Amino acid sequence: MSSTPADTLGTSAAQARSAELEKQIAEDPGRFRVLTGDRPTGRLHLGHYFGTLHNRVRLQDLGVETFVLVADYQVLTDRDVAENLTEYVEELVLDYLAIGIDPERSTIFAHSAVPALNQLLLPFLSLVSVAELNRNPTVKDEIAHSRQSAVSGLMFTYPVHQAADILFCKANLVPVGQDQLPHLEITRTVARRFNDRYGNGTSVFPQPDALLSDAPLLLGTDGGKMSKSRGNAISLSATADETARLLRGAKTDAHRHITYDPTGRPEVSSLVLLAALCEGTDPARVAEEIGDGGGAALKRRVTEAVNEYLAPIRARRAAYAEDRRLVRDVLRVGNERANAVADATLKDVRAAMHATY
Ligand code: TRP
Repeated sequence: MSSTPADTLGTSAAQARSAELEKQIAEDPGRFRVLTGDRPTGRLHLGHYFGTLHNRVRLQDLGVETFVLVADYQVLTDRDVAENLTEYVEELVLDYLAIGIDPERSTIFAHSAVPALNQLLLPFLSLVSVAELNRNPTVKDEIAHSRQSAVSGLMFTYPVHQAADILFCKANLVPVGQDQLPHLEITRTVARRFNDRYGNGTSVFPQPDALLSDAPLLLGTDGGKMSKSRGNAISLSATADETARLLRGAKTDAHRHITYDPTGRPEVSSLVLLAALCEGTDPARVAEEIGDGGGAALKRRVTEAVNEYLAPIRARRAAYAEDRRLVRDVLRVGNERANAVADATLKDVRAAMHATY
């Protein structure tokens, strides 16, 4: 996941809208179709989990139809080659299964396996201007952190590809972090312009809403953004010992008395928050309970909380990992379902564009 650009517009509007959407979901989950996804670039970690994964499982369990995308083409936006792709795809699917994404109810698929989805990119690209692509703050941020010396055309256009990811299944709800709001805006623009230009009074595509989770940001153990590539992330599949080791080395500060003050004491507060999220309690209470125990007591508490919370997830993951055929089967079935949906949408698109011959 990319970092949050400071200039993301419309966050508070999206938060207000999300609260309204939550009410509607509770009343009538059948009105919604969710699409979300991740790039297969490594194992998922606690930042992903409390930021978005947890929310996906919640929506699935509320009865919202859910599509989960393994965004394999999108790996190539900031690097020349998608390394260890097969392994990372399988690891990602294992993570999904372990956290409770249920392949009977949710469709897990890879976008490279769905040709009709990708074909939507062509008409969609015709609906946005180069200037609009140029000013996407998330793309700018990713270009700044890219490991490539030159910006590829794929980097530049991937938000439109992401619009295809979302619109191929006519999803109307996308649970994302703030960094993804600019992409959602492009998706809405593409949907609106397609309808205006080709819909002939009907709406071929919905204008999907972002659903922001209220989970506050977790930092990595070095106090920076938690990231697969920075060695500061606790992955869901880490062992209890690895978890303890990472947390023992976590950055804290010189004050012995533990408080929850995310602005003034970001590193300590992120650990307090992590313990609270795992325990299902309030961070202020966790801080108070630790009190003068200092960094060592905080680290012991958070290690225990994380390991206890993740134990059943890790056990499920290990059981699924025994059977590699399972992952393959999940993807095969998910890809088949996604292809059927994508073929139907492409048919609608070609009909609307008078391109059926
Ligand atoms: N861009 C997302 C990320 O980096 C992954 C993604 C690809 C996605 N397509 C999507 C997320 C569609 C939501 C909807 O994390």
